[in-house]
Amino acid sequence: MTGSDNTRAPWRNFYGRRHGKTLRPAQQTYLEEDLAGLSPGAVAWEANPARRPLDLHALFGDRPLWLEIGFGGGEHLVHQAARNPGIGLIGCEPFINGVAMLLGKIREAGVTNLRVHPGDARDLFDVLPEASVERAFLLYPDPWPKKKHHRRRFVTPEHLEPLARVMAPGAELRVATDIPDYVRQTLEQVPRHGLRWTTEGPADWRKPWNDWLSTRYEQKALREGRTPHYLTFVRTGG
Ligand SMILES: C[S@@+](CC[C@H](N)C(=O)[O-])C[C@H]1O[C@@H](n2cnc3c(N)ncnc32)[C@H](O)[C@@H]1O
Repeated sequence: MTGSDNTRAPWRNFYGRRHGKTLRPAQQTYLEEDLAGLSPGAVAWEANPARRPLDLHALFGDRPLWLEIGFGGGEHLVHQAARNPGIGLIGCEPFINGVAMLLGKIREAGVTNLRVHPGDARDLFDVLPEASVERAFLLYPDPWPKKKHHRRRFVTPEHLEPLARVMAPGAELRVATDIPDYVRQTLEQVPRHGLRWTTEGPADWRKPWNDWLSTRYEQKALREGRTPHYLTFVRTGG
């Protein structure tokens, strides 16, 4: 918290990019016309300094909630929304060019069960009710390959603790990565937060999930000769 002012966002160590190349005019239009209507309400600190929980019923009725963290260009998120109309999905992504790409894909696919938080996942975790998420996707999180940067990775307590809090008992967390050392850190850290790795053998971390759609980042990894790993965890407790 900044000084004694509890209406301001806490400082958070975000090291990724928020802006890239100049947006195409169509993308600018998607942001101007669509984003406000697709934002899941009071996630921004300015709009909700008291951090009241989101009204998920108002957003999605009785539909279960799935979450995609760092959706990149949004291809996997729109794919899941289209094949699961009975689910409500929220995607978060601080990189505004990615958000604009997603909005274009939402228009194209015509899906209505999707909301977008154009920012840090931690701001969303703050306002999600406890045990409200039935499935979470963390697909190719930023690798931060240098050892001195490993603490910037998503699979660290400052992200995993609030993620675990918002996941329902029995909820699934899917993590994909092409970086062996990221697999190591994920397998070390995630189970410390009440999420059990469901492996039964190599087949299940070498093979994608049955409903998988390969992401832009995975395509790049494959072109560059790196091997995807698919890890599935289940939230324990209940
Ligand atoms: C390597 S990219 C992968 C994008 C996409 N999932 C894919 O597979 O193509 C990682 C993404 O995570 C996003 N990211 C990084 N930190 C984040 C955070 N704290 N909350 C939400 N997204 C984050 C980045 O902006 C980036 O777009």
